[in-house]
Amino acid sequence: METGELSLDALRREATHCTACELYESATQTVFGEGPPTAWLMLVGEQPGDKEDVAGRPFVGPAGRVLDTALERAGIDRAEAYLTSAVKHFRFEQRGNRRLHKTPGVTHIRACRPWLDGELRAVRPAVLATLGAVAGKALLGPGFRISRVRGEVLEWEGRSLVPTVHPSAILRGPPETRDEALDALVSDLRVVAGLRR
Ligand code: URA
Repeated sequence: METGELSLDALRREATHCTACELYESATQTVFGEGPPTAWLMLVGEQPGDKEDVAGRPFVGPAGRVLDTALERAGIDRAEAYLTSAVKHFRFEQRGNRRLHKTPGVTHIRACRPWLDGELRAVRPAVLATLGAVAGKALLGPGFRISRVRGEVLEWEGRSLVPTVHPSAILRGPPETRDEALDALVSDLRVVAGLRR
């Protein structure tokens, strides 16, 4: 799909029918980004989870609640940011009646890239934050290692980009480390808030 100069509404409409990889076959729907079309900040996650897949909106499940808490503590209103994911269909493994998250692969990231590029062209955010390794790899390449650069302000195509962890990593970690992991995410997002224009 050539996403050229399409508006966000046009991109969202076109992405509804995306069959660029096989994930559309088992996912409920495309979960496109949402937020102000002129947002100063774009937050890029990995892929929709179970709840997002059903609702058709990004970050409305458990990871979204962690993100909301972290954003609020960092002084960022969710409504001022454009939220999206590197991959826009839910990749999962069916276990009984549960759908377990499966990390998207390079082919899925690549197939979905035109939509992310289209969102970047349409919104033109001055600041980007990548949440987790998949989003980092999508924008910074396969050599991206989150442990080396998290919380740093990088330059990416004339914009500022701050890599941080995915909020779901906090939920997956041992309960006794969650407060500390959340504090670290908040601290990275404070760096992002400091770049507000
Ligand atoms: N994780 C993401 O990266 N995106 C969502 O929409 C939900 C969870």
